Amino acid sequence: MERVSTGVEGLDRMLNGGLIKGRTYLVKGCPGAGKTILSILFLLDGAKRGENVLFISLAEGVDEIRENMNYLGLDVSGIEFIDASPTGDKTIFGDLFFTSFDIDTQGFKSMLEARFDKSAPSRLVIDSITMLRVSAKSEMEYRRDLLSLIGMFKRFNVTTFLTSDIYEKNVEDYLVSGVIELHMIDIKGKILRGVRIAKMRGIEFDDTMRPYKIVKGGMEVYSDLSLFEER
Ligand SMILES: Nc1ncnc2c1ncn2[C@@H]1O[C@H](COP(=O)(O)OP(=O)(O)O)[C@@H](O)[C@H]1O
Ligand SMILES: [Mg+2]
Repeated sequence: MERVSTGVEGLDRMLNGGLIKGRTYLVKGCPGAGKTILSILFLLDGAKRGENVLFISLAEGVDEIRENMNYLGLDVSGIEFIDASPTGDKTIFGDLFFTSFDIDTQGFKSMLEARFDKSAPSRLVIDSITMLRVSAKSEMEYRRDLLSLIGMFKRFNVTTFLTSDIYEKNVEDYLVSGVIELHMIDIKGKILRGVRIAKMRGIEFDDTMRPYKIVKGGMEVYSDLSLFEER
């Protein structure tokens, strides 16, 4: 099975060489944890290898994301962005996509499918999946739609990151091939950041929480350090 780098060396080490191509992964963490940054690094790694990579923003405006990434010193010109945030350019996906502010996942899927038929990216980020969840009419509907979305990504061999700011285990945890959690832990007023792989099908992985930092140029994962002193 072909492996795909996450764009972060230390995280690749935790994954014994990277993710499996064509599968869908969930990146979880509270706001500010670094989900968008990790997602961008994943796409930049593909762009660096000459791949087509696509970032779909369902929450934040794309201009803001570009600004934040530039501030971090990341050149995102190799990434294609689609702004599907509520304030974004609603014409990109046509009428299919938006009925006022809510998103219907079936419509989202058929639009993406039409686009992939013409040119499928090799890597995709949907930031964040929470927007699809809140717009679903029921848990059943959400599960069915998400499953068919993940199936489509597999058919087109697109390695995908979905981001989520919900910590509890949810439908999506069960449907994806792997879950990467970005934790921010308050210890006496000091925030410790830790990355943990909660699930990863088909890969022998490091299940210890490892410290990570957001730095100029991206993210560093210290795969040989433990967040907590082991005794
Ligand atoms: N130049 C920087 N140096 C250190 N940390 C930064 C820098 N720029 C942003 N950050 C950190 O990155 C976080 C935002 O990352 P982001 O990927 O947008 O989080 P999320 O998508 O999970 O909400 C901020 O909370 C901040 O702590
Ligand atoms: Mg974000």
